[in-house]
Amino acid sequence: MAKNNIKGNSFNFKGSINVPADKSIGHRALFLAALNEGKMTEITNLALTEDIRTISKDIQSTINCLAHIGIQFAEVKGKIFVKGRGIKKLVAAPNNLHCENSGTTARLLMGLLSGQKFDSIIDGDESLKKRPMKRVVEPLQQMGANINSEDNLLPIEINSAELNGEKFELNLGSAQVKTAIILAALNAKDVTTIKDSMPSRDHTEIMLSHFTKNLKVKDGIIYITPDPIINLEVINIPGDPSSAAFFIVGALINPGSDLELKNICLNPTRIHYIDILKEMGGKIEITNSSEINGELVGDIQVKSSDLNAIDINKESIPFLIDELPILSLACALASGKSKISGADELRYKESDRIKTTVSQLKILGASIEETNDGMIIEGGNNLVGAVCESFGDHRIAMMNSIAGTIASGETTINESDSVAVSFPNFYELLDSFKKR
Ligand code: S3P
Repeated sequence: MAKNNIKGNSFNFKGSINVPADKSIGHRALFLAALNEGKMTEITNLALTEDIRTISKDIQSTINCLAHIGIQFAEVKGKIFVKGRGIKKLVAAPNNLHCENSGTTARLLMGLLSGQKFDSIIDGDESLKKRPMKRVVEPLQQMGANINSEDNLLPIEINSAELNGEKFELNLGSAQVKTAIILAALNAKDVTTIKDSMPSRDHTEIMLSHFTKNLKVKDGIIYITPDPIINLEVINIPGDPSSAAFFIVGALINPGSDLELKNICLNPTRIHYIDILKEMGGKIEITNSSEINGELVGDIQVKSSDLNAIDINKESIPFLIDELPILSLACALASGKSKISGADELRYKESDRIKTTVSQLKILGASIEETNDGMIIEGGNNLVGAVCESFGDHRIAMMNSIAGTIASGETTINESDSVAVSFPNFYELLDSFKKR
């Protein structure tokens, strides 16, 4: 079990950085490339450098699983080339498809494999085996999928089936569920429509409407026609705003910061946390934004700031779900009382992030209490270095580490290697800000 020690008040967040590729867009680009029948797709920036070890573990899980169902991959100087097979020519995996820690891989695969002529078994690590899959199983069964599992948990067996188009009305605010249905719908007999009364990140809709004619969004309804014809040769994956959030908060809470984060995905469904931090008094500016393949991309400038408390409510949650742990740290250092509510979905992530965030910030000296659906944080306490646990959850490990930069004394982060799930070079980058 790897550990990392961080000495508080010894960092200076100055300069310009890139963060790893956006996981959500990366997974979707890989799935779409797999469906690009007989064609080669080039995916750039999945690896941050020419070293493919900078590819996040979750993205590697998707690559491994797609390779098991017949997709070929090659790598040249950090660029990934994918030889697609098309939705009808995937092949049965010789073994269980192991998604490791990646919920997105598992749920998207369930959609893709539900309408195939072969059987599959989807499995994952101990954390993923505890995460709810009923939310994906049920709509897929409604389309005619033949899925077997105990308590709707992994491992899940997906037997061959023919799917019908369906009319869905969703209200969970989950992009993974929506995307699983869209992938299944691409292999159904007729048109599927999705009306989502609780919107969530929309990368799938953007990517498919950009590179195929099989998905259209009209008056808030998504229309999917089967048998995708894909027009995709090269796709560049921008930096992950959810990973950027750790360094943005690090820069805000440490004195003397002046940080630039380059080439970040600025999709509005992903950067609501920036609106929240700005409302709290954060000095954050977006520059050089432009649209690439339908997605907004640009740079983010951050300076040290005095933060004030804020209330975060249910309607905002789907748009900042992955940033809530690091936003909780910002609230712990802000003046006043913050309240996060309507965030029960946090309990179903890589760890129960309400419990794990509250317990770790408490260990570090924050005044924070768990509620049923969120937390109440009395800001302004000075943090004190301590031994923190990560619970195998990358975002908890990174939140603890950024907290360590402002805590007095030393903070130890146990299971710090879990950062590799989304941010393999997190500690290298953090070390580069050490005062010399
Ligand atoms: C993701 C959607 C979110 C998010 C996850 C990635 C995606 O999950 O928490 O990290 O890529 O679709 P939900 O859709 O379950 O909220």
